[in-house]
Amino acid sequence: MRPDVRARVLARLIAALDAEAAAAPEVPARTTRLDVARYLDPGELARERAALFGRRPIVVAHASELDRDGAFVTDRLGEVPILVTRAGERVRVFVNACRHRGARLADAERGCAKLLTCPYHGWSYRTDGRLLRVPAEGAFGPLERDALGLVELPSEVRHGFVWAVREGALDVAGFLGPVLDDDFTAFDLASHRVLGRTDRVVAANWKLVMDAFAEGYHLSTLHASSLARFFLDVAILDDCAPHVRQVGARKSLRDAAGEPQRADLRRDATVFYDVFPSTVLVFHPDWLSALTLEPVAVDRVRVVHRMLAPDLERDETARTRLERSFVHIDEQVFLKEDLRIAESIQSTLASGANDAVLLGALEEGMRLFHAARDAALTAP
Ligand code: FES
Ligand SMILES: [Fe+2]
Repeated sequence: MRPDVRARVLARLIAALDAEAAAAPEVPARTTRLDVARYLDPGELARERAALFGRRPIVVAHASELDRDGAFVTDRLGEVPILVTRAGERVRVFVNACRHRGARLADAERGCAKLLTCPYHGWSYRTDGRLLRVPAEGAFGPLERDALGLVELPSEVRHGFVWAVREGALDVAGFLGPVLDDDFTAFDLASHRVLGRTDRVVAANWKLVMDAFAEGYHLSTLHASSLARFFLDVAILDDCAPHVRQVGARKSLRDAAGEPQRADLRRDATVFYDVFPSTVLVFHPDWLSALTLEPVAVDRVRVVHRMLAPDLERDETARTRLERSFVHIDEQVFLKEDLRIAESIQSTLASGANDAVLLGALEEGMRLFHAARDAALTAP
């Protein structure tokens, strides 16, 4: 975030702190009802897959996970299996399917190879996608090799992340919009590396996990024994449709309230972004969480949590400290608190317990996320 934006955000947060003290929160009170079918109906998921996953830029990897020539990772984009490779400086995203009869070229989550050789009949491809070798090629008659390279999907590396879509043009900066794109540039996200990673499937609709990171209303109860001691119940929000930026006040911000110039955004506040549709970034004081979600079924979501930090190759002590912090946030806070409550909600909604979920003014970020999702589903 640029210094002038940081100063403005902190000034607003301090003003919100004062307003809170005067019991006058900035968002007007109201109740929004969301029909629970959005979390339960497989038809809704099919519509989301068609309209969101792969139609909008989705984070499929981090460039630091492909740090050598020949490195690859496998993943999925919507339902399409993909293979992200590095050939020299270029990172590319391919459909992970052999052009002969469609076997997946790589099953490992990650690896490094000069050639990608299909396990079925041995067709091999260079990491830039070109078809190199076909065993017993004569049996096919003349083969149009140039047309039989791996199918490449539009992709772009921006802010260190590898983004991809299934088809069409890709403009990540335009998709992020000026607020997020400027913030990520100023945070120098492109220089960050993945230092830790967990990958798990949670028994909840993917939106329940987005919901968990879209509001701070639950902080003082759900996180009573973990995060709550560091935070105040005060946050500000910017609607950067379809994305949302929120900044929550840490208790230390109170000390700086009389002298705003002493406040430090990373120390005294937590900035978090819902990057539509399914990525969440949470800026802790000296590292950040990047969560990417992939719906597996209407009631199952794969949650990949990456720890990103500036390169600490030579600073073992700092690295160990950050790794401990990652384990605490990942296991205690996210897994045992946020993700467990998402599973709890899925189970009650599936039982028919409630017809609707209710949102108040302190859940504005969640309301905006659902509004963006609804708008995207009905967009032509
Ligand atoms: S399916 Fe890949 S070589 Fe036959
Ligand atoms: Fe939470």
